Amino acid sequence: MKAAFTWTGEALASVADLCVRRWGIRFREGDSPRLRLLSESAYLGSADESFPGFVARLSSLDDDDPEMQAFIAQLVVGETSFFRDQPQFNALRESVLPAIAADRRREGRLQLRVWSAGCASGEEPYSVAMLIAETIPDWRDWDIRILGTDINPFALRRARLARFGDWSFRGVEDESIRGYFLPVGARTRYLQHPCRELVKFDRHNLATDSLPDPERGLAGLDVILCRNVTIYFDLALTRRLADGFLEALGPGGWLFVGHAEPDPQVFGRFEPVEFKEALVYRAPGNTVKHPAPSRDVRSAGSGRQSPTPSVPRRHSAKDQSPMSRAVEDHAEIRLPTLAEARVAYDAHDHAGASALLVAIANGGGSDPTAAHLLAQLSADEKHYDEALYWAFRALLLDRFHSPTMMLMGLIWLERGYLPRAREQLQHAIFNNPRAPEAHFYLSMVHRALENPDQSERSRERALRLARAHGGNLLESDLLPVERPRIGLAKEALAKSPPLE
Ligand SMILES: C[S@@+](CC[C@H](N)C(=O)[O-])C[C@H]1O[C@@H](n2cnc3c(N)ncnc32)[C@H](O)[C@@H]1O
Repeated sequence: MKAAFTWTGEALASVADLCVRRWGIRFREGDSPRLRLLSESAYLGSADESFPGFVARLSSLDDDDPEMQAFIAQLVVGETSFFRDQPQFNALRESVLPAIAADRRREGRLQLRVWSAGCASGEEPYSVAMLIAETIPDWRDWDIRILGTDINPFALRRARLARFGDWSFRGVEDESIRGYFLPVGARTRYLQHPCRELVKFDRHNLATDSLPDPERGLAGLDVILCRNVTIYFDLALTRRLADGFLEALGPGGWLFVGHAEPDPQVFGRFEPVEFKEALVYRAPGNTVKHPAPSRDVRSAGSGRQSPTPSVPRRHSAKDQSPMSRAVEDHAEIRLPTLAEARVAYDAHDHAGASALLVAIANGGGSDPTAAHLLAQLSADEKHYDEALYWAFRALLLDRFHSPTMMLMGLIWLERGYLPRAREQLQHAIFNNPRAPEAHFYLSMVHRALENPDQSERSRERALRLARAHGGNLLESDLLPVERPRIGLAKEALAKSPPLE
């Protein structure tokens, strides 16, 4: 088994350095506990290798590698929601989109290009699509493309599914999105409106991929939204990006950044345009004069006045670490509970249960259960990469979380990483030697590794422990999603020949 590793500042710095170089994501001093957990969980899940060897190997993996995908997904914060930052969407709906549309009609060129950079699970680009469908009545006759990009492959997968839990609609009045979504199960909705087809998703790394990029549709853009993304970057990268955005926008194109984004002088080459409670940047070369300031629309409450004035803030954004800020933004809103997720699951609404669990897991609590159950749900659906990601997230919160350690061993086994599966299950057994399933799963791994003697020894241990438990294997009293997996071990044990 891998020897215990002493986490030096130097070791953490090498992982932090990797995050900055590859994705521009920096850790501040206050973030070092998170950096340590991130490094630890990735290292724990890795093969039996030295720490420098692990960092070197991780650095050499490209972003498509499953291990790298899981690492990226746990590195980033994917907080988002529909119509997040009301005043900006008001400006877009009331002023910016109508102005662009009028301009295009005058030119006789019915074309519109929008980029949501760092789109997470897609709520932002889909919000734009809905606004376009409302503000441009003949939008079907136009050539409109909205591109959502991100580095997180799992967020993009969710985005393409276009299914969202209640949490994604916080602060949005039901009335204002009527007709766009189809309820699926108790607490999930599917974006069924044809404007969905305007939105496409792609992987794009803002830290390294060059701009403009006409081949990927990132040139001659009318609108770029890059909100709550550069808060993780350093100033040099943000400046470079601001220049890249300018190159990627057409003359007079619009840039929306989050209002916690760095100081306005970074966007000094743009013209700042003020709308009601929203500052938007405009590329030079505009042919149309500024559109009229916007009125408040589409908020929960009266429909005229925004009852959630901007995004409520209890601290200055500058006081906080960027990693915690996204969660803080919505700290006042009640998170769903595990019990609610259970209700959805019992009603066979797996997508709904999953959406609720994502909200709980992203809600910033310290309980690993939601992340663990998401790992279980993903594994049951054979989405092993995503399962690995959630398992890492659960281990980030509790590195000795026994069910997750076992599940992770099984995921490595399913994906054919046998030495890693063995190591993970040995860790699980070291942590909880009396869990029969861990021994049973290890016997499966040994069998796959063609170690029949070790496989048999582990199987015998599993049977003895199961007997000592009165034949009952450990079962979670949380969600029943645990049971199929446990059931698998139980069933196999039942079929095993009795011990002499
Ligand atoms: C807090 S979310 C913001 C989502 C959305 N823009 C909003 O404001 O609601 C930040 C997103 O930026 C993405 N991100 C971080 N670094 C990135 C990079 N180098 N390139 C592209 N996307 C990145 C993350 O994966 C995450 O989905």
